[in-house]
Amino acid sequence: MKHLLSLEKLARSDMERILADAVVFKKKRHRHGKLPLAGQIWALIFNKSSTRTRVSFEVGIRELGGQAMFLSANDIQIGRGEPIKDTARVLGRMIHGAVIRTYAQSDVEEFAQYSGVPTVNALTDDEHPCQVLSDIFTFQEKRGPIQSKVVTFIGDGACNMPISWMFAAAKLEFELRIAAPERYQPSREWIDRVGRSHRSNGKIVVTDDLRKAATGADLLYTDVWVSMGKEAEGAERIKALNGYRINQALVNLAKPNALIMHCLPAYRGKEIDEHTFEANAPTIFDQAENRLHAQKSILNWLVS
Ligand code: CP
Ligand code: NVA
Repeated sequence: MKHLLSLEKLARSDMERILADAVVFKKKRHRHGKLPLAGQIWALIFNKSSTRTRVSFEVGIRELGGQAMFLSANDIQIGRGEPIKDTARVLGRMIHGAVIRTYAQSDVEEFAQYSGVPTVNALTDDEHPCQVLSDIFTFQEKRGPIQSKVVTFIGDGACNMPISWMFAAAKLEFELRIAAPERYQPSREWIDRVGRSHRSNGKIVVTDDLRKAATGADLLYTDVWVSMGKEAEGAERIKALNGYRINQALVNLAKPNALIMHCLPAYRGKEIDEHTFEANAPTIFDQAENRLHAQKSILNWLVS
């Protein structure tokens, strides 16, 4: 039984296969010979807001021949405290796969363990593996292999996005620079876990010097300063992260053909300014579209 619970646990060979097949799923959209989810019903169990992830999975499951059922965690008994392992054992007898967005990574892992159906992490506090796989697909579509390139993440360096990027860098062997104030840098525990997950030539640099981190980068990447679940810390985060923003001055330090990417939703004037966002909107919305193609490849990999 395959699951996509994290990039930490995804083998490099599986990442490579998902990325390669995503190219084909994009090229052959609406012309897929075999529908790998034919006759299947998948549940999307979401405990946090979502636009892109929800829609791209619902559309992707249908385009692969399956049916998608959206379950807001608040509307099912999980919201009233029914244990994950009981929900998993019930749904596992009825559905063929699950896509879960929630807070604790352990909840997605427990669902996978008890449900007996392929389970996808659609974002937890620890990781956002589908997003980073889609982003690497987007980078490679525009610039070729990511291996040996320099990716610079700017902003909240301790949230799910940079954590997934770290595991990707270790496995696919590119340089990842994370520029964040000390308090918002990945913990020592995460750095050690990345080191243990894969022996590689990938390099991870963590710094508070965003200009140095941006210099010569092939990709500048950012994400919200206030992730879902951190709203109570909003004012404090905005104060501490002020300055860790992608703007034209920073773009000028990167390689002349550097890509600027954002996983969205974007907060202009915070992690990126309006001008830089709009100047790079074609790339950013290709990135959003590619969620669909990359996740179809993930679903196909899970059931094959
Ligand atoms: N980037 C992303 O996961 O977007 P949603 O929160 O809208 O799903
Ligand atoms: N770090 C963000 C990602 C949103 C797609 C969050 O968790 O809210």
